[in-house]
Parts: sequence; structure tokens; C-alpha cells
Amino acid sequence: MVEEKMVRVRVPGTTANCGPGFDAIGIACNIYNELELTLKPEGELVITVAGEGAANIPGDSRNIVWRSVQHLLRKARINCQGAHIKMQNNVPLSRGLGSSAAAIVAGLKAANEAIGGRFNNDELLAMATEIEGHPDNVAPAIFGGVTISVVQEDGQPACLSFIPEIPLKLIVAVPEFSLSTRSARSVLPQTVPFHDAVFNVSRASLLVAALCRGETRLLRQAFDDALHQPYRAALIPGMYEVFKAARAAGALGAALSGAGPCLIAFATKNADQIGEAMTAAFAKEQVKSRYLVLNIDSQGAQVL
Ligand code: HSE
Repeated sequence: MVEEKMVRVRVPGTTANCGPGFDAIGIACNIYNELELTLKPEGELVITVAGEGAANIPGDSRNIVWRSVQHLLRKARINCQGAHIKMQNNVPLSRGLGSSAAAIVAGLKAANEAIGGRFNNDELLAMATEIEGHPDNVAPAIFGGVTISVVQEDGQPACLSFIPEIPLKLIVAVPEFSLSTRSARSVLPQTVPFHDAVFNVSRASLLVAALCRGETRLLRQAFDDALHQPYRAALIPGMYEVFKAARAAGALGAALSGAGPCLIAFATKNADQIGEAMTAAFAKEQVKSRYLVLNIDSQGAQVL
């Protein structure tokens, strides 16, 4: 049954890939979108959007939050064409910080709560992956922490989350321009050389082991990638210079955040110096940017 009660949820932004963990590793960050949802079985669809990207987010049935609400209602065999939706967005839009994953998870989490919590988080993960196409942002958005996702042989996603044994800071350089995940995926090759695959398998494994054991020494080699960043570099002016500047200012490593164009550095100290070095390196390429210093979110999506 649909009750006309207002549900509020909060969902973290996320950074995916973390260098070598393409489509597999993601981290929830302490930057959040909030959503209020009231299902209105007899009413109309009214959507208001405030904050990041408000001018570019459709306020009608094309809205990704609403499409996610509808996705869950269909699974629950509930027909409801009206709702009041209020989005307060803090996650930058189309920048590689999981804004679409946050919107999808917010819609699913809120709709689930509105119908009495029929689905568990694993089921929400399956629905979110169906909508998003890959699990590495939606999984940490749901579960929090550093999340390792797989798509199983039957197509269903599964994941494990953990909190690293080191106080990792995430320093994100956010350029002014946006980049769609679709464009950033369209430049990827169909096949990769075997040694590039080995390069990534070893680093992704090392990254997870080092985070679990708190080995910062070995982390320095763990954020490099050969599978996607070399192909995407042409889309982000100065990408490797920004990585170099972050390391020179004390970062353990740096990577493309998700499909970009945000670039992210990982560090335990010097966060502001690293952020300033990254934005200065972008500026040398005539790219205006700002930086955020974020921590890992351990909770994932929450009903408030
Ligand atoms: N793993 C995805 C990619 C994240 O790099 O294309 C983007 O959302």
C-alpha cells in the first residue's frame, strides 16, 4: 500500500575506479544529496531541484530520481503516477563523483521506505545496477565505505565493503567543465594488452590489501592504471600534470575520479597543499577548477 507520508533520505557521492579498480572499486565520500519523496497516488508529479546542477536536471518524468522510484514501484507491482519530489544536491553533476548513482539510489531508497521497506539493500543494489549499468558507484552509495563490486555470471551484482585501516583523505579537483560517462566510456578499447591487464590486477589487489592492512608505504604504487586512464587522458587537459603535482605536494597517489573529469588524490596529510597544487596544475592548462577535501563515508544511504 502507498501511504502519503514524506520520506527523507541522504545519499553520499562516490568516487569509482580509484585508479586500477575499473568498474570494481568505489568509495563513498562525505558529500551528500538529500531527497524528500511523498508518493501521491491521486496527485501529479511535482519535482523541485536545488543546488548542484539544478538548471540542468529535468523536473518531469525524465528525471532520474523519478525513473528510479518507478523502477522500484514496478518491481513491487504498485502503480502510482504522482509524487512530490524535492532534491537538494551537493554532489557536482556529471563530474565523476557519482551524481547519477546518488540520484538513482536516493530514488530507490526513498521509494522503498515509502512502501514499507519491502526490499533489502542487496535487492536495491541489483535494481540500481540495472539502471546505472555498472555497480561501482551505486554499491558504495548504498553501503558506504570502500566497496568492491562484482557482476556475477547471472548478471547480478554483489559487493563487500570495508573501512580502511588508515585515515585516508580524498582531495578532489573539480574542473568547471563536465563530461558524460557515456562519452568517457566511448573512448575505451574493446581489448587491452595482456600486460596491461596484469598491471591493473596486481595494483587493484595491492590497493585493497594495503587499505585493509594500513600499509601506506605500499599504497604509493597502488593507484596507477593502464586500462582506462591512458585512453581518457585526451578528454581531460593536464590530467597527468595534475597527478604529478598532487604527488609532489605529498599525495600517496592520484587518479581519475570515476569517468572524470574530476581528478582525485589520496593522502593522509597535506590535504590543502595537495588541493592547491592540483588546481594550480589545472590552471596551467587553462582549466578552471576548485578542490574539495573529503573523508570516507562509512554509512551509505540513510533514511533520515
Ligand atoms: N567505472 C565507471 C567508469 C565509473 O569509469 O566508466 C563511471 O561512473
